[in-house]
Amino acid sequence: MPGPALSNLRVDGERLWASLMETARFGGTEKGGIRRLALSEEDRAVRDWLLEQTRVAGYDSGVDAIGNIYVQRPGADPSRAPVAIGSHLDTQPTGGKFDGVLGVLAGLEVFRTLDDAGIKTQAPLCLVDWTNEEGARFAPGEMGSEVYAGDVTLDFALSRTDAEGVSVREALERIGYRGPETPGARRFAAMVELHIEQGPLLEAEGLTIGVVTAAKGQRWYNGEVAGRESHAGTTPMNLRRDALPAFAEFVLAVEAIARAEAPAGVGTIGMAEAQPGARNTVPGAVRFTLEFRHSDAERLSVMHGQAMSAAQRISAARGVEIELDPFWRKAPVAFASAVAEAIAQAAQKLGLPSVEMTSGAGHDAVAVASTVPTAMIFVPCSGGISHNEAESATPRDCAAGADVLLHSVLALAGTKTCQT
Ligand code: GLV
Ligand code: MN
Ligand code: MN
Repeated sequence: MPGPALSNLRVDGERLWASLMETARFGGTEKGGIRRLALSEEDRAVRDWLLEQTRVAGYDSGVDAIGNIYVQRPGADPSRAPVAIGSHLDTQPTGGKFDGVLGVLAGLEVFRTLDDAGIKTQAPLCLVDWTNEEGARFAPGEMGSEVYAGDVTLDFALSRTDAEGVSVREALERIGYRGPETPGARRFAAMVELHIEQGPLLEAEGLTIGVVTAAKGQRWYNGEVAGRESHAGTTPMNLRRDALPAFAEFVLAVEAIARAEAPAGVGTIGMAEAQPGARNTVPGAVRFTLEFRHSDAERLSVMHGQAMSAAQRISAARGVEIELDPFWRKAPVAFASAVAEAIAQAAQKLGLPSVEMTSGAGHDAVAVASTVPTAMIFVPCSGGISHNEAESATPRDCAAGADVLLHSVLALAGTKTCQT
């Protein structure tokens, strides 16, 4: 456990902020956000930046076959499994500067702080940039961490394609990040992920730290409404098999299903495209995405059943076919109590007000939790806004979260002070 000198240790908040702002230029947008889709050129640039920082500091690093980057800081006892600090550097198409990035750069800041103080942990530490957490370019998300945990296979992940038909395998090769390591080969004693809350609760309560003890389950679908294309001027209304109004009914059905489960349940249709996309052709098809989330596994199943029934009912009533392909699901997760306890104690020692929370967002920690004892730290973000270029967090809260990360990791890894 940290002694009196260690308890005074703090990260360099200004250096952390400078790293956040420096890397924000990789995919930086005019509105102050970041567009850094997984395995894009911008993702390659920020990965190269991370590896350059760690090379200069003298750490060993490795890349696995799904592109996860591992940066190792040696411990006094090399026989111990490392304590991991991980999150992601990819963003949504209109993402902010903090979602994911904070967790990785705070990990780098923890390494730098320990280096400056000449502190060696007993167990090694490992900083991880997990590939494609967002799932925006290639679905499903949490791809690198799910492959690491064995919840999706490497072949399945490599075969997923983006809207242009580029596969994960091709994209990894293009940016030079299809590494030689076998995903899952590195075993960790624990993992801690620092992340912005992406919701409004901490800010509203005036709290700095969320000790995240659980995460909602998710179900992701690809959907298609198949109707019939026909002439917009000559097809009478009663003879149309218009995919778009049928889809509109389905959208409202999904909203009603989710509203009935509020606040624990949510449902979102985030993408939809009517085809063929001509002003004077009745749409023959709508392709869309759907996801449901709930903290209760049974209620998530109920939402699934209700969506399937709604699809059948609307199909029959409107002479179309609504098909749902449920290609990915994740059960609700309870994080490891020992790791959550280390986080809560770190916050308490640092005098930071904290509260236990459930995450509504998906995270790499959620994926990894099935194989590694894991928990998360949340810090507030302004207005709870995330997945938005306006996403913002204060330097003070980022530093506070990184301090909690530092002290959680010190408690989990154990310390040996080596004044050099
Ligand atoms: C990831 O950001 C998710 O929660 O979908
Ligand atoms: Mn994230
Ligand atoms: Mn996100």
